[in-house]
Amino acid sequence: MQIAIDGPASAGKSTIAKLVAKKLGFVYCDTGAMYRSVTQMAHEQGIDYGDQAAIMAALANTQIRFEPGDPDQKVFLNNEDVTRAIRLPEITNNVSQVSALPEVREAMVNLQRDIAAKQNIVMDGRDIGTTVLPDAQVKIFMIASVAERARRRFVENQQKGIDTPLKTLEEEIEARDHKDSTRAVSPLRQAQDAILLDTTELSIDEVVAKILEYVKVAQAAQ
Ligand code: DC
Repeated sequence: MQIAIDGPASAGKSTIAKLVAKKLGFVYCDTGAMYRSVTQMAHEQGIDYGDQAAIMAALANTQIRFEPGDPDQKVFLNNEDVTRAIRLPEITNNVSQVSALPEVREAMVNLQRDIAAKQNIVMDGRDIGTTVLPDAQVKIFMIASVAERARRRFVENQQKGIDTPLKTLEEEIEARDHKDSTRAVSPLRQAQDAILLDTTELSIDEVVAKILEYVKVAQAAQ
């Protein structure tokens, strides 16, 4: 079974996807972490974030590995654990540029399909229901207000020792929403057959419960 969860930055996708995967015994795959790790690679090698040819050449010589982990999926760049580094502002603020590169997307989408072909999966991202797994049995498009998303990211950052003011987070989220939904290749949009889930006023448990209900319905229909 495939469960696709898409939506804008900080809508709660990864928190929810992880919990749903745990409840169902499925593997969780965070596709944003993949684009972030490519951005991290470019950063470490001093490659311009818009230089597709240089990024693809470097990617051919870089092993990017993902390990399911609790609470976070672990990400390794040539055996260097970059799980934490990929959440820092340098990467967060430049990942939209890297993830807009068509060849980078093609490579990541292939990797994501390979991962999904091997096991029951909960995958979150921007284009999972529309492009990566168009046949997913359950598709969720998760949204929340900008103010609520900034507040959540602020709390998350505080726990990780990252100190970015709330106002800055709001501006960053708006900028990223804009870039993610206006790019030429695979822009963020709701799949026609996805269920719209607004989490602004829902608790984590309520959102998880709703998705598990949708999964039950899909399983019964199989
Ligand atoms: O979910 P996130 O914030 O970790 O995602 C990081 C960036 O990667 C985000 O700006 C959009 C991009 N992304 C994408 O283009 N396609 C995906 N499937 C997942 C993320």
